[in-house]
Amino acid sequence: MAAACVAFFLAAVLAAAAGGEAAIVEHTFVVSQMKLDQLCNDTLVTVVNGQFPGPTIEVTEGDSVVVHVVNKSPNGVTIHWHGVKQQLNCWADGPAMITQCPIQPNKNFTYRFNVTGQEGTLWWHAHVSCLRATVHGALIIRPRSGPGSYPFPKPYKEIPLVLGEWWDTDLLELERKLANGEMKEVPTSSTINGKLGAFNNCSGVIEDDYILNVEHGKTYLLRIVNAALHAEFYLKIAGHIFTVVAADANYVKPYTMDLIAISPGETVDVLVVADAPPGKYYMVAMTVPSQWIVEEPLMNTLVISRGIIHYNNTSKGSENTPVLSPELPVDDMGNISFYFHGNLTSLRMPSVPTSIDERIFIDVDQGYICKEGESPCRTAVTRMNNISFQLPTSVPLLQAHYYNNISTSISMVREFPSSPPNIEFNRGNTMKATSMRRVRYNTTLEIVFQGPPGETSYLNPMHLHGHDFFILAQGIGEYDPNKDVHTYNLVDPPVRNVALVPRFGWTAIRFVARNPGVWFLHCHLEKHVPSGMATVFVVEDGPTLDTSLPPPPTDYPTCDGQSNKVSYE
Ligand code: C2O
Repeated sequence: MAAACVAFFLAAVLAAAAGGEAAIVEHTFVVSQMKLDQLCNDTLVTVVNGQFPGPTIEVTEGDSVVVHVVNKSPNGVTIHWHGVKQQLNCWADGPAMITQCPIQPNKNFTYRFNVTGQEGTLWWHAHVSCLRATVHGALIIRPRSGPGSYPFPKPYKEIPLVLGEWWDTDLLELERKLANGEMKEVPTSSTINGKLGAFNNCSGVIEDDYILNVEHGKTYLLRIVNAALHAEFYLKIAGHIFTVVAADANYVKPYTMDLIAISPGETVDVLVVADAPPGKYYMVAMTVPSQWIVEEPLMNTLVISRGIIHYNNTSKGSENTPVLSPELPVDDMGNISFYFHGNLTSLRMPSVPTSIDERIFIDVDQGYICKEGESPCRTAVTRMNNISFQLPTSVPLLQAHYYNNISTSISMVREFPSSPPNIEFNRGNTMKATSMRRVRYNTTLEIVFQGPPGETSYLNPMHLHGHDFFILAQGIGEYDPNKDVHTYNLVDPPVRNVALVPRFGWTAIRFVARNPGVWFLHCHLEKHVPSGMATVFVVEDGPTLDTSLPPPPTDYPTCDGQSNKVSYE
């Protein structure tokens, strides 16, 4: 049902033996549309190789990855390798109109990148319109010296757990609505590895549960990805606890909890020991209650999915014992998520930069613009420092930057300011523009994201492409520069690629911009992308050839779809 797997899997994996030479791992991703029958509805969705979620890419640190994307769908697509650093390789990063034109229908593009210096769970997803709701999959990077060199006991098995959402709607239509300020859309269900679970039924037909069969006494490494467009999830398994060992492909000090909080874009690796009395246990992925209560007052049900942990060799008599359900948090306004995120620390002592070249304070919130003839101005947008980001339409920013000059080839470009403008945030005065922040090679930046104040606040998982960063601190309320710097963790802050800005709170991060190119910074709630909560960092070339961005690949897509080969003088 959920994953009607057309076995169209052309993965030719030249696997590297553990500890061996770096290999080239090659996949072909055929993007096409198919109908998935869920909840009495045949919904047309875009998928990779006929699978939902899409294929898992498994590599070893240092390998090269080659993915041939063949677009057999009627819409332009791109794939982003979420969390891959793409050193000197911005051309393969994937966000549409930031680093490349969408791959047009019936065209191909080959993404080539390496996974040097990275280990853990990342993922890939479409980065155009809302297509990533169904075009996504896990990207697993194992240590070069084999799983015996994990900084935790070697697990018996590794299980990717991709959490997602099921939308009954046309996702391109959804994109148009979001861009138009209609932000009240909600999914029908959440999913665990593509399954909606038996909490969902329609006309008596119950949806399949995701089932994980386990051996008693063994340890499992769950590699959890939140691929949902909007839901931050709490994940619980009745009768079991989690030991968190990594987040966003960076090891953390083992942290034990009975619940995982994971926001869109994030990954979390946990160990689970199957040490409960043999039987069946429910696993539940539920939306953090505050999220729909606050943002979507129209919605009164939680987006929730269920799976089952089933012990193998459960003795005959106990087969019929009741399945245990986890106790779920009710009315939690995001506090559990706040503490979960705040309790993560780096396993190894990283060297946190202490001398800052540029400080940027960013208000991430909502504003209003005027549509033509509209009075009063009431088209809702999201924004950063009062600019609602506009994607360019004719030429991608990276291409404009490399060959020309962004300001001359793209209209409505604005330099992204270091702090919010000092104006009354009235309705209608938000600026729509392609904002960008130019930074010199090797600049050390500190960014404080400030979420909206008040009871109607919402969380914002901010994701930066091409870089990991240190999360120094988070807090509730308004950031106070004199007081809050003293709460910074400069010893073992977690290293991540998503900074969750809590409800009416703030988060402070630091990183060094040492990767030339154009890097998207945006909220990973999909509704906040077309509505404008984004900007880009344009990182300039360094002084030498090997600190400069090389030219684009020869099959770099064009926006008109006329020719797949571009030749530049
Ligand atoms: Cu996972 Cu720009 O996104």
